Amino acid sequence: MDIKRIGGPFILAPLAGYTDKAFREIARSKGADSAVSEMVSAEGLARNGEKTKALLERFQGEDRFIIQIFAPSDDPVRRAMDNLLEYNPTVIDINCGCPVPKVVKTGAGSALMKNPEMIGKIIRTIKEYTDIPVSVKFRLGWDSSSINYIEFADTAAEAGAEMLTLHARTRAQGYSGTADKEAFRTLSNHFRESGMLIFGSGDVFTPEDALDMINLYGLDGVMFARGAIGNPFIFRETKDLLEKGSYQHPALQEKIETAEKHLDLMIGYYGENIACREMRKHLMAYIKGIPGSSRVKNELAAACTREEMIAALSGLNRE
Ligand SMILES: Cc1cc2nc3c(=O)[nH]c(=O)nc-3n(C[C@H](O)[C@H](O)[C@H](O)COP(=O)(O)O)c2cc1C
Repeated sequence: MDIKRIGGPFILAPLAGYTDKAFREIARSKGADSAVSEMVSAEGLARNGEKTKALLERFQGEDRFIIQIFAPSDDPVRRAMDNLLEYNPTVIDINCGCPVPKVVKTGAGSALMKNPEMIGKIIRTIKEYTDIPVSVKFRLGWDSSSINYIEFADTAAEAGAEMLTLHARTRAQGYSGTADKEAFRTLSNHFRESGMLIFGSGDVFTPEDALDMINLYGLDGVMFARGAIGNPFIFRETKDLLEKGSYQHPALQEKIETAEKHLDLMIGYYGENIACREMRKHLMAYIKGIPGSSRVKNELAAACTREEMIAALSGLNRE
């Protein structure tokens, strides 16, 4: 797949509970080339569930939208395809990394790492319905004694996947421990000259982390995950580092304005109650590390309305 389809190498990763259309809009406005949906259940899509449909709405002007689905097998995927195609995804990504027991016990998410043939079946099923490129986001393996990412990637490639994103941890590691970046080199060398797009995920917390993944480990691109929560500026910083050789962190004013814009988008999309509930974690992340933020954090924790949240944030200016 040509990387132009997804706009470039710097993508907002799928983050359940975070990458709704408001956060994707903020990330794109700060330089993300594309953004991935929260993971969406193929079964939910097949049943046309309201919750699932809400996850798949685009923000106005969202010209590229990678939709990630999760499924334990090809059966729900087959039943979901007609509904999925109504959203015209730019790329259809399959989640093979989610470590959450509720998902894994059904055979979906990272449980697919133990069942590589099934990923082949799921991809072939999607390809019966559409030419939209299929990608896979997967881990090193189930645990350290069953590392199988190359075999898994080969199976996905043979079935027709055109993009692979490796989260360089095992399922057993969850989100802790350091990502094994050497695995990126192994994977990118394995697919050199194949036309396969190879992305990496794991411990991308600074612009330098992102460019190292491209320059040192040979990846085509990077997914920003925890490093972009409360810090969508990392996309612009990374592009500045790439293009100009240096970057500047955002001023406090821009951080506060962006946090407020994010809150207002959420209120516009979901109403004040849901927005304030969902924004608390984002706002805490926006203010992390700012001098004087601990008192503001306490105020945010208690805030239930837009007015209270904005008042709490304004405390940062007074420091
Ligand atoms: C709160 C949270 C939600 C996540 N949700 C998803 C998801 O829906 N689909 C997915 O493929 N990965 C999901 N991930 C994994 C991230 O996309 C990413 O691969 C992982 O956090 C490693 O990158 P990082 O170390 O830079 O954060 C999630 C991670 C976190 C922390």
